[in-house]
Amino acid sequence: MRFPPLKAKACLAPLAGYTDVAFRVLAQRLGAGMCVTELVSAEAILRKNPETLRYLQFADEESPKALQIFGDDPDRLVEAASMMEAKVDLIDLNCGCPAAKIVRGGAGAALLKDPARIGRIVAALVDALSVPVTVKIRLGPSKREYTCVAVAQAVEDAGGAAVTVHARPYTQSYDKPAEWEWIRKVKEAVSVPVLGNGDITSPERAKAMLDETGCDYVMIGRAAMGNPYIFRQTDGFLTEGSYRTLSDAERIALANDYLAIAEGFDYTMPQLKGQAQVFTKGTVGGGRLRAQLNTARTVDEIGRILTAVAGQTSRDPRRR
Ligand SMILES: Cc1cc2nc3c(=O)[nH]c(=O)nc-3n(C[C@H](O)[C@H](O)[C@H](O)COP(=O)(O)O)c2cc1C
Repeated sequence: MRFPPLKAKACLAPLAGYTDVAFRVLAQRLGAGMCVTELVSAEAILRKNPETLRYLQFADEESPKALQIFGDDPDRLVEAASMMEAKVDLIDLNCGCPAAKIVRGGAGAALLKDPARIGRIVAALVDALSVPVTVKIRLGPSKREYTCVAVAQAVEDAGGAAVTVHARPYTQSYDKPAEWEWIRKVKEAVSVPVLGNGDITSPERAKAMLDETGCDYVMIGRAAMGNPYIFRQTDGFLTEGSYRTLSDAERIALANDYLAIAEGFDYTMPQLKGQAQVFTKGTVGGGRLRAQLNTARTVDEIGRILTAVAGQTSRDPRRR
């Protein structure tokens, strides 16, 4: 199955703890081309783990509905993906997560050691599913061994629909810059769409990655946390060359939009509070606001705190 054409160039990267259903809906309303769930364990899906079910919520308006799964056993991955197939438009296989508990089990970035194995997993998924299968990778299993080109080719040969490249090797932390030139190398090696990812912090950087690497789409991760408006800005910059900056009040008001969407789904209070707090990062008085949000016990209380501050901030520009 082919990768679906997306409405916009910039997508929301999967972010554990952040790309829940309400945040994905908000990001899509603000112009994200695609929003991917956080990585979900194939084994947990099969066990119908109650916590995991929360990660498997999708909204009708999400399009495409993209679920990221991880695991290392092709049969178990196929079983889990088949269980979810009717609810989603696309399955993304995680081959980049560096977390110890995931690579220890042979999943995530551990798979980058063996492009042929990734190819076999993708072939099994493609064979079993009627939705497109994509793969998100890092550059390779270590700083000395970049397998991304071979992995992308294996994915394409196996019938995979697209590859997302986070341009860092498994062992590389975020303090060193992403190596965008490898996104270009992958793009030159395959004909399926390539999504570039790593260190996009602004609409300008999104355009630079598209221009420098020739990738088809970009994925924005950290810069979208609490800041889904970056998708509207990026779309504006790519199509018209300019974009608007939000005031603190407008940014905090978006947290209220997030809450309103979240109320239609199954949520925990820590999740809602945590997300609301991220929207306040970088705003004037944000620290105080986060402390206030910490004390909230109900969704209404979170909403009241946000509304009070958003109102105050917008009424008095001198507070900035
Ligand atoms: C808090 C956090 C959670 C993440 N969770 C996932 C995940 O579940 N699946 C995945 O493929 N990548 C995950 N990533 C990696 C991001 O998708 C992305 O590849 C990385 O942050 C680089 O993009 P950026 O520079 O735009 O943040 C995570 C990153 C962060 C910071």
